[in-house]
Amino acid sequence: MDLVLTGSVAYDYLMTFPGLFKDHFLPDKLDSISLSFLVDSMVRRRGGISPNIAYTLALLGGHPRVMATVGEDFTEYRATLESVGVDTSLMKVIPDEFTASFFANTDQSNSQIASFYPGAMDRAGELSFHDLEHKPDLVVISPNAPDAMVQYPEECQELGIPYLYDPSQQIPRMTGEDLRLGVEGSFALMVNDYEIELIKKHTGMSKSEIREGRHFVVVTRGEAGASIYTDGEEIRTPIVSPEIIADPTGVGDAFRGGFLTGYSHGLDWEICGKIGALAATYCLESTGTQEHIYTPEEFVARFREHFDDGGTLDILVK
Ligand SMILES: Nc1ncnc2c1ncn2[C@@H]1O[C@H](COP(=O)(O)OP(=O)(O)OP(=O)(O)O)[C@@H](O)[C@H]1O
Ligand SMILES: [Mg+2]
Repeated sequence: MDLVLTGSVAYDYLMTFPGLFKDHFLPDKLDSISLSFLVDSMVRRRGGISPNIAYTLALLGGHPRVMATVGEDFTEYRATLESVGVDTSLMKVIPDEFTASFFANTDQSNSQIASFYPGAMDRAGELSFHDLEHKPDLVVISPNAPDAMVQYPEECQELGIPYLYDPSQQIPRMTGEDLRLGVEGSFALMVNDYEIELIKKHTGMSKSEIREGRHFVVVTRGEAGASIYTDGEEIRTPIVSPEIIADPTGVGDAFRGGFLTGYSHGLDWEICGKIGALAATYCLESTGTQEHIYTPEEFVARFREHFDDGGTLDILVK
């Protein structure tokens, strides 16, 4: 299955401050804040929704294409994605720009001061599905520059390309009307349990209107697993308990990568949900969104410690 993933691509610069920010804000000087925190650690991690999803798909043997705009600082990131099997040929470098960058400084009480610079991501609208040589089998539309979040669904609808709509953290930035058009034109929808309520509120659509016309709708429910709605039915799938919880960032993306791996092999819904759950658990057990690693063999062996796949996952190991 030819999958094209769209959505943010970012570097996360994560720093830790060995004190408390609140000790340094002077209540009588709030109109002239001038603070610099000497931090004692900094890491730069690969992040952004579309490469996070692609990373899991690639670990499980897929070769998804990521379509996104990136900056001149992307060379190393590209090499890493290529090395695991992600096709980056649709990732366009914007001259004189940085890849979207998230700078976060966290103190000892977990308070955070952060800034997000969209950089090259702001130019996502310069990429168009009309320019693709091969029409993909499925496109994933994830959070991105606001104009691209409206443009990509429109283009996919014009071209008859099915898309999985994944608006998540961009929901608050969109008008109810744009969101409704995005949902109504979609082949499938994947959101968490909070986001489905936001979509209902902003679009005025009922749950059944949202499910109607979608091939499937997945609602993830954190520790409570996920619900897959298809053919008027709800299929509930469980989680896989993590050995440790190191960092919850990126679990939703890893779930998507796992679920779509099952879907792209035509596996049944329950297995798709369970692959998603285990992929999410691997992500939960390491710090960062693309730091965990496993082979398809290791994944399938761990899957079989929890679930019975009737041998269908042999397709991942070949
Ligand atoms: N504490 C947990 N233990 C095990 N699995 C979890 C846990 N939290 C989430 N998951 C897995 O990850 C999936 C997606 O989680 P969730 O619904 O929290 O997504 P999300 O809110 O979109 O996450 P994100 O913070 O990445 O946006 C769940 O369906 C579940 O399989
Ligand atoms: Mg999410």
